[in-house]
Amino acid sequence: MEPLLNNIEKEFIFTDDDFNFLSELAVKTAGINLTTDKRELVYGRVSKRLRILDIDNFKDYCRLLKKKNSEESLHFINSITTNVTSFFRENHHFEYLADNVIPDIIKSNAGLSTPRLRIWSAGCSTGEEPYSIAMVLREHISDIDNWDAKILATDLDSNVLKTAKQAIYPLERVKQVSIERKKRWMQMGCDENKDSIKIKEEIRQLVHFKQLNLTEPWPVQGIFDCIFFRNVAIYFKKPTQTSILNRFADHQKINDKLFVGHSESLIGISQKYQSIGQTIHKKVS
Ligand SMILES: C[S@@+](CC[C@H](N)C(=O)[O-])C[C@H]1O[C@@H](n2cnc3c(N)ncnc32)[C@H](O)[C@@H]1O
Repeated sequence: MEPLLNNIEKEFIFTDDDFNFLSELAVKTAGINLTTDKRELVYGRVSKRLRILDIDNFKDYCRLLKKKNSEESLHFINSITTNVTSFFRENHHFEYLADNVIPDIIKSNAGLSTPRLRIWSAGCSTGEEPYSIAMVLREHISDIDNWDAKILATDLDSNVLKTAKQAIYPLERVKQVSIERKKRWMQMGCDENKDSIKIKEEIRQLVHFKQLNLTEPWPVQGIFDCIFFRNVAIYFKKPTQTSILNRFADHQKINDKLFVGHSESLIGISQKYQSIGQTIHKKVS
């Protein structure tokens, strides 16, 4: 039955069948769990695609997605991801990185001619998180240019990665960054770009962006001293969260740290990590 009443005054007809198809596709391709309370959100986000494609109902849009190798799948996934982020979001993680993680890494690398450091920003959105990490590394490792230091920054959404790589942000988005950091790590735009900043090359060169779906196999190798997995797990069902965390554990040593978002808990999700407070976890097995 088509719930026509729900569609009164709506621009596009959006039935339960359409919603069910889209939510199944989201969970299948990206692990994103669109519960029924997300119905309005899906309508709002996906309607933009219907307008761009000049399609006047969701049934036809779903038909397009059902075609084999449909290019629209990428746009659909981009439209349903939530990309909210900011520089130094949940700042205590960056303080912990500076005061605890970095000193430990320096100690464990002592004596090596090329010290090594790897940090993964998994679900990096438009880049504010990995660039914040890079600023902290530069501020606390004075000889970092002699290090083999890399921040891997990955996301599923190809649009946010494009923005991240450009490293240009409206002034509005750096309002909360300290004046010292702005002066040191950001370049003011001029003329028609006077309302934006660009992240300086010495920060950008530490960050390596890659498209990666966390629910699929990862072309990722090696050990990460620290993983930022913040405000991403919240969109996944528990078994998906467990599987991702157990796979992170394969890329960390005992005691390496994992940061999650303020509303995310790992309790009952993975035995491989133990909370040490403030949404910081250490690998234990
Ligand atoms: C709310 S943002 C978090 C950004 C940043 N970590 C922070 O805390 O500010 C969530 C990000 O996770 C990404 N994401 C969602 N599902 C994903 C998946 N299956 N694989 C990789 N990234 C995914 C989204 O595209 C989005 O950019």
